[in-house]
Amino acid sequence: MRLSDAPAPEDLDPAERLSRDELAALQLERLQWTLNHAYENVPFYRHKFDEHGVHPRDCKELADLARFPFTTKQDLRDTYPFGMFAVPREQVVRVHASSGTTGKPTVVGYTRRDIDTWSDVMARSIRAAGGRPGHIVHVAYGYGLFTGGLGAHYGAERLGCTVVPVSGGMTPRQVQLINDFRPEVIMVTPSYMLALLDEFEAQGLDPRASSLKVGIFGAEPWTEEMRREIEERFDLHAVDIYGLSEVMGPGVAQECVETKDGLHVWEDHFYPETVDPFTGAVADAGELVFTSLTKQALPIIRYRTRDLTRLLPGTARPAFRRMEKVTGRTDDMIILRGVNVFPTQIEEIVLRTPGLSPHFQVHLTRPERLDVMTVKVEARPGFEGRQEAAAALRGAVKDTVGVSVEVEIVEPETLERSVGKLKRVIDRRDN
Ligand code: DLL
Repeated sequence: MRLSDAPAPEDLDPAERLSRDELAALQLERLQWTLNHAYENVPFYRHKFDEHGVHPRDCKELADLARFPFTTKQDLRDTYPFGMFAVPREQVVRVHASSGTTGKPTVVGYTRRDIDTWSDVMARSIRAAGGRPGHIVHVAYGYGLFTGGLGAHYGAERLGCTVVPVSGGMTPRQVQLINDFRPEVIMVTPSYMLALLDEFEAQGLDPRASSLKVGIFGAEPWTEEMRREIEERFDLHAVDIYGLSEVMGPGVAQECVETKDGLHVWEDHFYPETVDPFTGAVADAGELVFTSLTKQALPIIRYRTRDLTRLLPGTARPAFRRMEKVTGRTDDMIILRGVNVFPTQIEEIVLRTPGLSPHFQVHLTRPERLDVMTVKVEARPGFEGRQEAAAALRGAVKDTVGVSVEVEIVEPETLERSVGKLKRVIDRRDN
């Protein structure tokens, strides 16, 4: 089997073979069920719908969803810990929580059937990425309250794979296990994959000679340039997986290995919209908003993800719309002297600059009254032309993003590595 081959049609889920019209009919039925379920069982939704003057029976077609109010992360915090549950707590077989940098975590819950649905969409995602029953899957997403590890784990088991539940950290041991167990598939954040890459080299192993054929990377934004870097240095297929705990966890959308053209949203379970982040009006591109269609424990209506993308028609799975790779989050956007900058824009340029490694940080300071952005980036090992590289990076950022930045080229292996989600931006503007 060539890994870039699409799965045989008979191996797809029935939902993956629906026509767009059949899918839309299923979505409407499920949306109406979800709105009723939320209204009847979650006081938060009942009050919010009443306040807005809408009722679940007002949803007669999919476009009517736009009449319903949004749900935000703050709403989940306000109902901490279990106030958003739509079933008695005893029916919740699992909780997860997202860390959140400030304040209380947001708690999410799953019934047994929700866990089943999640396992199904994750199995579908791993298959779309090129994983097959019988493959060994190395899971290096964190296990615990974070949804990455357990989400990947249940999905890989559901597909019929052999799961190696390594979780994050202990990098030398990860490399040893990959070398000894010979997994075909790895599931990990792209930034931690780079740390594994360094460790391969530190142990004198050739990453291109490893058994890995597919990497399923998500939980943080990453660019086409990063895909190229990882594919080239590991000789594998790098595909994107998206999800968030409030909507389910990983497996909300997945890129298909045969096209690598953005992520198909599993729309039979998660209904996507994009809205203008400022006005909230439905738009072709903008902030991604999700409504769950089948979730029992925590139905979520029009959840504002803060992730920026664009919805496109389906390709490899024609009925399912795709989302473009996420550019960044509205709250990661840096406004530097009036210009909007995303760390992904810097990533693209760093990786296109000869001699610079993918390890970089963005530091923000305010030495006088003006904000200063400094890109600290590691040179590739053995690279000499640092001054030229710094000048090239400064020039390219100025030309493509339109801002002047400082560039500091540092020694290889000096910037902190991430084990899970990477923190790219270090903001010291208050000091
Ligand atoms: O990160 C779930 C996940 C685990 C997804 C493993 C993929 C792989 P949260 O911790 O709730 O859940 O964080 C969700 O992470 O709103 C995005 O901002 C970001 N994110 C997740 N996947 C991607 C991706 C998990 N493929 C938040 N590209 C989301 C860009 C992503 N950002």
